[in-house]
Amino acid sequence: MKNIVILISGRGSNMEAMLAAKLPGRISAVISNKADARGLETARAHGITTAVVAHAGHASRDLFDAALAAEIDRHAPDLVVLAGFMRILGENFVRRYAGRLMNIHPSLLPAFPGLHTHRRALEAGCRVHGCTVHFVTPALDNGPVIIQAAVPVYPDDSEDALAARVLAQEHIAYPQAVRWFVEGRLCLGADGRVQLDGERRTAGALLVPEPDSGRT
Ligand code: GAR
Repeated sequence: MKNIVILISGRGSNMEAMLAAKLPGRISAVISNKADARGLETARAHGITTAVVAHAGHASRDLFDAALAAEIDRHAPDLVVLAGFMRILGENFVRRYAGRLMNIHPSLLPAFPGLHTHRRALEAGCRVHGCTVHFVTPALDNGPVIIQAAVPVYPDDSEDALAARVLAQEHIAYPQAVRWFVEGRLCLGADGRVQLDGERRTAGALLVPEPDSGRT
């Protein structure tokens, strides 16, 4: 069974979705850069080992990244999952976990990397918005796309309503991507493209809700 280490900074709802999904892998640890991350409590309540590597205690980004990597490696992960981990990770860190480091971002990348994605999608007048699960490369919120989920944007949407609609899809898309990986069906090919079941194809493109379904 493959080992998964999950990194969080806050609420941890994507982590919770993975726990609920009963993945065929072992979540060996949940690590946060913030001692008060709400998701740490949830992980402990599920009997999962937790750890905190606070960036405040480290003189540089490289030292923080090295301490984080040391903590991660204690759990010998096959896959490291960034689930709302809000620290930028350096190039050495990303290269160390190449092909086994995943992230979820609340936009249809490459649109809207960075923060406030829902507000920016509304301001831009987007008709569709969504989330992206991708393998991590050194550039911020960038890397080969594994799965995307799209949602409609309604003219009277608030930022919160749109965020909630996207988050519901994150909770479906991210466990799916992790499941493919731990089942050995998903990998990052030598050409830097995502492969599912040995083929270079977009992994199960997901458009949710269906165009004729009701509003949520
Ligand atoms: C999620 O919406 C995730 O996509 C986003 O942070 C939130 C974490 O929520 N991640 C990023 O913005 C990464 N650039 P959660 O803690 O409830 O899973």
